[in-house]
Amino acid sequence: MCGIVGFVGARDGVSILLEGLKRLEYRGYDSAGIAVVGEQQELQVVRCQGKIAALEERLQRHPLAGATGIAHTRWATHGKPSDDNAHPHRSGPFVVVHNGIIENYADLKSALEQEGCAFSSETDTEVIVKLVEREWNLGKDYLQCVVDTLRQLRGSYAVVFLNEKRPHELIAARKESPLILGLGRGEYFLASDVPAILPYTREVVYLDDGDIVCASREGFVIESLDRGRREPNIHQIDWNPVMAEKAGYKHFMLKEIYEQPRAVIDTFRSALDFDKVQVCLPDLRLSKGQIADIEKVFLIACGTSYHAGLTAKYMIENMCKIPVEVDLASEFRYRAPLMTDRTLLIVISQSGETADTRAALQEGLDKGALCRAIVNVVGSTLARMSSGVIYTHAGPEIGVASTKAFTTQLVALYLLSLQLAYSLGRMPQEELSIHIRELLEIPGKMEAVLSGCAKVEDWARQYMHAKDFLYLARGILYPIALEGALKLKEISYIHAEGYAAGEMKHGPIALIDEDMPVVVLMQRGALYEKILSNVQEVRARGGQIIALIERESDAKVGGEDDQLVLPEASPWLSPLLFTLPLQLLAYHIAALRGTDVDQPRNLAKSVTVE
Ligand code: M6R
Repeated sequence: MCGIVGFVGARDGVSILLEGLKRLEYRGYDSAGIAVVGEQQELQVVRCQGKIAALEERLQRHPLAGATGIAHTRWATHGKPSDDNAHPHRSGPFVVVHNGIIENYADLKSALEQEGCAFSSETDTEVIVKLVEREWNLGKDYLQCVVDTLRQLRGSYAVVFLNEKRPHELIAARKESPLILGLGRGEYFLASDVPAILPYTREVVYLDDGDIVCASREGFVIESLDRGRREPNIHQIDWNPVMAEKAGYKHFMLKEIYEQPRAVIDTFRSALDFDKVQVCLPDLRLSKGQIADIEKVFLIACGTSYHAGLTAKYMIENMCKIPVEVDLASEFRYRAPLMTDRTLLIVISQSGETADTRAALQEGLDKGALCRAIVNVVGSTLARMSSGVIYTHAGPEIGVASTKAFTTQLVALYLLSLQLAYSLGRMPQEELSIHIRELLEIPGKMEAVLSGCAKVEDWARQYMHAKDFLYLARGILYPIALEGALKLKEISYIHAEGYAAGEMKHGPIALIDEDMPVVVLMQRGALYEKILSNVQEVRARGGQIIALIERESDAKVGGEDDQLVLPEASPWLSPLLFTLPLQLLAYHIAALRGTDVDQPRNLAKSVTVE
């Protein structure tokens, strides 16, 4: 979704703002713009439809100079992608950039039009800056103009204002859209996300809903809409700028795929007590008594994070014997879910900012459930709303297609299952020790899979022109089939579906012909023979099989070229291994087809509107 960057200081603001926008490109956008106050104290705005490169071209023709400024990448909601709809939007001496949706903009716009206001865009955002100018014309103090404007808005916003008359000052505010303040020496940064400001500072304040910040070279203050001051909580970010760079890889996605063994280690390292051979999740803040009382677990998320939740249902129900419901966050609150104070509700999210997931969490809080979060971004909204958290330590994930966030979520959920099962007395110490040992072996096995995946590139070349793909699996690998299909869809634009293999004969088998590649995930164990029968059914109808198997002896699945042998792992951890070739298959097909792998069309990394 939209990316916001703001800078106030004494340095060249234009290059800082452009660099910040580039570091937010992963969020997804269709137009970009920048505004600075120049040396003659005049407001200059350049904006255009298209990529940041198009904005840079325009800046070569209309160079800007100035220290204080704001910049924006727009992901269209109200009004098509166009130069006129690109931010910043101007009215009189003010410009604004905005992320979110103003739900009552149509009413506000028609009231302003009746007063004689002319609009030059189709956006909801333009009403914000028009309202500020209207308040200003009433003779109010600048900050009061912003406060009185925000009071009229319904919906969500992260906004940053620049005022030609106050060239060394920025005012920013948030409600239900992410915004952070970065602290430098005599300079301050505003941004939608941490990577934008990593080269300049690692000290940040996460703004809360209702916060308004006023920043100048001299310092900053945070107030609320009722003008009360609040003391800032300053967080130290432990990511470094290099983590948000490609490090020689062609795409962020490829780098992030190969980072997974390291990310998995980082996620479990801080959660294991190696002396006692136990799991310790102190930030989760679940007492033994609370755990003993849990009657039901809800796992709520969107997209890839939802697939992590589906996978964890198998782990938690099997190890803890507690019923688990997994819900899409966008559906959850609309189906009047039943919850009590003995319900554990866990939201799962890479960004910690997804609007639907946030609303689902709010539903849980309102109904008195025990609410916790599994998130990657420290200090993000979901982390702050929840009473406890497990952080995945994936580091910044820049590729829109989620990869390392997914596998680290699986590890966090595995740790949670172990913790609950042990605490409930349903997993003895000896069994826990075996699970922990198996977890410690996983990064090495992931390395082995990643270095033995050359065949996946051949498959990509062979099948890159296919129109549809089917992904089949059973049991705990079924959600991994869904995830494999999602990865292929979102970055290669090839239609793909994941199915529980046993469901094939109830419909999808009608699709099978010689043009249909069928990726089959085959885990050893009780369901192996059954999925083998499904493979034969596909073969009998001419379908092309791509098989991921766990043992060389399973060669009867197909020819040598059609199968990849993965190291064996415990059933609960094998999803981590099966995921990797599926990510690589999607990646290589997309790269061969020449799509924009890191920023696929129409997608946003962090979906901050409903
Ligand atoms: O940040 P979140 O984990 O809450 O994001 C949820 C989904 O938007 C995200 O997983 C999306 O499906 C990815 N593009 C998948 O690769």
